[in-house]
Amino acid sequence: MRFIYQSALAVAYLYVAAMAATCDGRIKPKVMIITFFDAEGEIYLTKSNTTGALDFRAQLHRVPYASPEFPYLHCTRDGDACLMTTGEAEIQATATTMALLADPQLDLSETYWVLTGVGGGAPDRVTLGAITLARFTVQVGMSYELDARELPPAFATGYVPQGTESPDAAWGSVYNSEVFEVNAALRDALSVMIDPSRVADSAAAAAYRAHYEAVPRFAPGAAPPAVHHCDSATSDTWFTGALLAETHARRVDLWTNGTGVYCTTAQEDGAVLGALVRGALESRVDFGRVAIVRTVSDFDRPYPDQSVMDNLVKGTVGYPIAIENVWVAGESIARGIIGAWEETFEAGVPARNYVGDVWGVLGGTPDFGPGRVSDGEPVLLPGAKGQQSAKVKRSTRRSRIQK
Ligand SMILES: *[C@@H]1O[C@H](CO)[C@@H](O)[C@H](O)[C@H]1NC(C)=O
Ligand SMILES: *[C@@H]1O[C@H](CO)[C@@H](O)[C@H](O)[C@H]1NC(C)=O
Repeated sequence: MRFIYQSALAVAYLYVAAMAATCDGRIKPKVMIITFFDAEGEIYLTKSNTTGALDFRAQLHRVPYASPEFPYLHCTRDGDACLMTTGEAEIQATATTMALLADPQLDLSETYWVLTGVGGGAPDRVTLGAITLARFTVQVGMSYELDARELPPAFATGYVPQGTESPDAAWGSVYNSEVFEVNAALRDALSVMIDPSRVADSAAAAAYRAHYEAVPRFAPGAAPPAVHHCDSATSDTWFTGALLAETHARRVDLWTNGTGVYCTTAQEDGAVLGALVRGALESRVDFGRVAIVRTVSDFDRPYPDQSVMDNLVKGTVGYPIAIENVWVAGESIARGIIGAWEETFEAGVPARNYVGDVWGVLGGTPDFGPGRVSDGEPVLLPGAKGQQSAKVKRSTRRSRIQK
């Protein structure tokens, strides 16, 4: 989510194109940083001159089918770390991720995917500038929607899970993009790479967050920014206000069977992960190597006596530190993975939790959702390179999920 609309993009790309180096041979990134719009990507480029930091300006690679706004992959000279910007919201995030998967000049077999972007934050969990690392992302926008003016008297919200008749029901019809779960042990290993003393804060953010102090439940919102473990809500719709935030927090809780904790809003996380699951089914990607990082640019709901619109407009005071912290988090993680490659990351960080989608197409048994589709085995794709050994039982799937 961003607040500053079209920047001097054309100028930015003329500048980088002039520095283009040709990329010979396949690039085998150890880390792929995924960002979503111009400012999130540009912070990695402008900070590339910082002493000791990864320099993403060294290589440029045009990615076919990428967003016309962000056609280039930026990489360090050795290709160990690369940076891509997808374009905003779900359609663009999926399309650009598929473009990376389809690019024959990339070897992604050992790549760690680190999503880093700004988002809204829940003041009962986080504050402006906070850095969050998620285990789940939940597509809260996947719903029937009734206009609030036409709600049945018993409905507390107009968002109703599809295939159900009540806002409080959990699962109805399942599309399989509702929830993705990533490797929690990896998240734990990556979050300690972020030096808490480097988390950017500002006087403007401090003044704004002080308004939340009056509500005891919002103490985290009134505290200085830090590094947190909590989960992201994906929605094309940029929702705002306490009622929608509470509705979607409840959906995160329901759809993760009580394990997930809603703390950030974003328009892309699940969209990237949906593409990565497909990459994993083709043995192109290791889905155990995915991290979701969001930094908080604004609050998802107003402080006491503030209007929803006032918070939406003025709450953007957190945006500059959120952008800075995208780089603080993402660059620290990338450097940390590369620095400990041989001893830790080359072999992978074994997941102790389930990783994958709602149906369990990668194998394993989802610890949320209505149930797996292939008895704990990965699904078999005709002609796929990997070791898949089980077929999706279509009849089973329909009866289990669409009952
Ligand atoms: C890096 O580049 C930025 C923007 O071009 C500039 O403001 C900054 O002074 C430079 N920093 C260093 C250490 O060279
Ligand atoms: C998750 O909760 C739903 C009810 O909300 C239940 O039907 C389902 O079996 C639970 N899934 C797991 C894996 O426990």
